[in-house]
Amino acid sequence: MKDQEHAVDTQASNETGTGYAGPPARLAERGRATVVAVANQKGGVGKTTTTVSLGAALAQGGARVLLVDLDPQGNASTGLDVRITSNEASTYDAIVEGLPIAQAVRTTAIEGLSVLPSSLELAGAEVELVQAMARERALARAVEPARADHDVILIDCPPSLGLLTINAFVAADQLLVPIQCEYYALEGLTQLMRTVGLVEENLNPGLSIGGVVLTMYDGRTRLAQQVVDEVRSFFDARAYETIIPRTVRLSEAPSYAQPITVFDPESRGAESYLALADEFARRLGITSFDAARAARVARETKAAEVAALQAEQDDARLAAQEEGGEA
Ligand SMILES: Nc1ncnc2c1ncn2[C@@H]1O[C@H](COP(=O)(O)OP(=O)(O)O)[C@@H](O)[C@H]1O
Ligand SMILES: [Mg+2]
Repeated sequence: MKDQEHAVDTQASNETGTGYAGPPARLAERGRATVVAVANQKGGVGKTTTTVSLGAALAQGGARVLLVDLDPQGNASTGLDVRITSNEASTYDAIVEGLPIAQAVRTTAIEGLSVLPSSLELAGAEVELVQAMARERALARAVEPARADHDVILIDCPPSLGLLTINAFVAADQLLVPIQCEYYALEGLTQLMRTVGLVEENLNPGLSIGGVVLTMYDGRTRLAQQVVDEVRSFFDARAYETIIPRTVRLSEAPSYAQPITVFDPESRGAESYLALADEFARRLGITSFDAARAARVARETKAAEVAALQAEQDDARLAAQEEGGEA
């Protein structure tokens, strides 16, 4: 059965025409989500930005996406305007208390995108889990039921290789590793790959690095191009063709609690994440995703928002005029 599945999968990923010969992808039609951990133990390389932007773009294109916020900082949750109070259910409850995640998952403003939110409480999980039975499998157990009604589950990992990240590696089918185009880009990746190897040997035989994506690319520097060449020669077909540029709009979007494809869908940042979503969906065989639809929904969402804001301003102006007329 297992072999048969793989045979089908290999064929499917070859048919995408990307020339990608990586690990077999699960087919979305099978009704089982592929779980992808967005990981790199370095902070500030674009994990959260990639998880949120990619998740939003995939959902806008018709995929059913669950984003699991596994960072106690909760930036992925707030980036999607999901804020929870200390007595509301979160990732912590799902992995430490065994709460069914359906009871903690929130919808977002984007249709098809939901999020399992995190809070600072999750920082304690790293310590509390140490005592627990099968402590590395807590997240895998928690997300398993959610595979049935999603096409992809994206896990935003914290910037460490601690127990939370190990939980993500055990829960995941593959990793997506964002790499910042900077001088020490490849530093730390050996350690990351060693950890992936250990998890694969001992806990999750199916795990692999499915892809790496270059982020914060600044075309004006020669260094950035050197990093691209270096990463591409090292990771070969696993490196995504899409490169995420460094743009101000991408860094502004979180303070508006919107993913870039909602905040500014015509921006270069949005276009690059829409392109990444397309490449990602092809590689993983997520057939519910339609790139043209993603771009259209992104534009329409923005247009509707602008129109609503305009109407609000018009109403306010009218009200002010009426008041002025009465006085
Ligand atoms: N492509 C980009 N261009 C400009 N700023 C970016 C880009 N990607 C991320 N950032 C900003 O860089 C900082 C770190 O990114 P983040 O996604 O939070 O990294 P991580 O989750 O790996 O720590 C954030 O302030 C984010 O808004
Ligand atoms: Mg982060």
